[in-house]
Amino acid sequence: MKNIVKLALLTVLGASLSSVAFGQLPVPPVLPPPSGSPQFGDPLPGLTPDQLAAFGAGSDEFLDEETPERGLGPIFNNVSCVACHFAPAVGGSSAILETRFGRVEYGQFDPLIELGGSLLQQSAIDPACQEIVPPEANVIAQRQTTPLFGLGLIEAIPDSAILLNAAIPRPDGITGRPSMVQDVVSGQSRVGRFGWKAQQATLLAFSGDAYVNEMGITSRLFPQENAPNGNTDLLALFDNVADPEDVEDPETGKANIDNFADFMRFLAPPPQLPLTLSAQSGQILFTGIGCAACHTPAMQTGANSVAALDHKPVRLYSDLLLHDMGGLGDGIVQGTADQREMRTAPLWGVRASAPYLHDGRAATVDAAIRAHDGEAKPARDRFLLLLSIQRQQLLDFLNSI
Ligand code: HEC
Ligand code: HEC
Repeated sequence: MKNIVKLALLTVLGASLSSVAFGQLPVPPVLPPPSGSPQFGDPLPGLTPDQLAAFGAGSDEFLDEETPERGLGPIFNNVSCVACHFAPAVGGSSAILETRFGRVEYGQFDPLIELGGSLLQQSAIDPACQEIVPPEANVIAQRQTTPLFGLGLIEAIPDSAILLNAAIPRPDGITGRPSMVQDVVSGQSRVGRFGWKAQQATLLAFSGDAYVNEMGITSRLFPQENAPNGNTDLLALFDNVADPEDVEDPETGKANIDNFADFMRFLAPPPQLPLTLSAQSGQILFTGIGCAACHTPAMQTGANSVAALDHKPVRLYSDLLLHDMGGLGDGIVQGTADQREMRTAPLWGVRASAPYLHDGRAATVDAAIRAHDGEAKPARDRFLLLLSIQRQQLLDFLNSI
């Protein structure tokens, strides 16, 4: 009886929902992967020999462990990119968290830059310059390592496509907002799309950002070291390598940040699995209960000089916009993203990136959905109203994309 009521409710919901534009953009069908299609960690199909060589050289640098002699630190989080980005293959995610802090006073967020905020560097080349979360901080947030598969495709989506998608009316009072950032590479105002707060627009910018903030290695884009808790005297004492530390190789004309960007740009997207009957039902539910209002199933790259990135579908399941997630927000203001705003997490490959949500609080996809709040609360509530078999169908779908 209970189930019949639920089914009826769902039918009513389905009828009222179908009158609203959900998927926004036409969704190319998910076809079974052709045999020999790339697996996690493989390069994009269709790269030229030169591009494959750049992928290989970039991968080598991504794996390379830095030392204090080569500029590591004085304060840092880890010694190589792969130390955090490794599961289920090089370039993936991990359960490794990092810490951000700040202070809220009279409703205003202060990233405590003069005390080394908002990102904490958890290690140091000498215990004397070890950073701590300063006692002034009253907001402390954890951020989990995200996977990098398919990021070249995400980078190649034109700003205009994201802005257009943002302008389309959504159900449930959802209003996605583009994260406009000043791109350090071009100096232009761009749509940020990388990171939990969509804080960077390009892979080169994120490479420079990660190199200095995770490893303490300065580059032409980020020439300034982080001072331990803001203490410039301590920095002067322990920073013995001239900046910028990452310089162009005279033979290739590329610095390590360029190599990291090449590797990530040419990394294939997560392999999608053929949809079982159950997963096909889940796909319909995904749109029907309102998940696709933020998790846009597919976008398209624009014109690109790399053929493998030129006018390609990107089945990312994200609108790359910031949403007010209510209590799920991480409390940190970063760029134009406010305390409650988070970027819609892309869901491709989600089966391989547990745990979930920005701070890794959810062990399973099911728990991640249940923790949705703010603009996503109506969709979350509809998920809770599903029959358990329907919830399983939805999870089967998410485990295939
Ligand atoms: C200490 C662990 C750690 C190390 C080392 C590290 N990362 Fe990350 N990476 C993270 C975390 C955590 C995030 C999410 C950060 C955020 O959004 O605040 C992230 C996010 C990213 C993203 C954004 C991906 C997306 O989902 O949009 C890119 C790109 C990236 N890292 C590249 C790199 C590169 C390149 C290196 C090496 C220079 C590197 N990372 C080193 C932990 C790490
Ligand atoms: C209002 C926009 C919005 C709606 C609607 C929405 N989500 Fe999300 N989703 C997000 C955001 C933003 C995040 C990242 C939140 C965070 O970690 O702080 C996220 C994260 C997730 C994650 C975790 C991904 C990861 O890598 O950690 C899953 C799984 C997910 N959503 C599934 C769903 C499903 C299923 C639905 C429908 C019931 C749904 N979402 C509805 C915005 C939305």
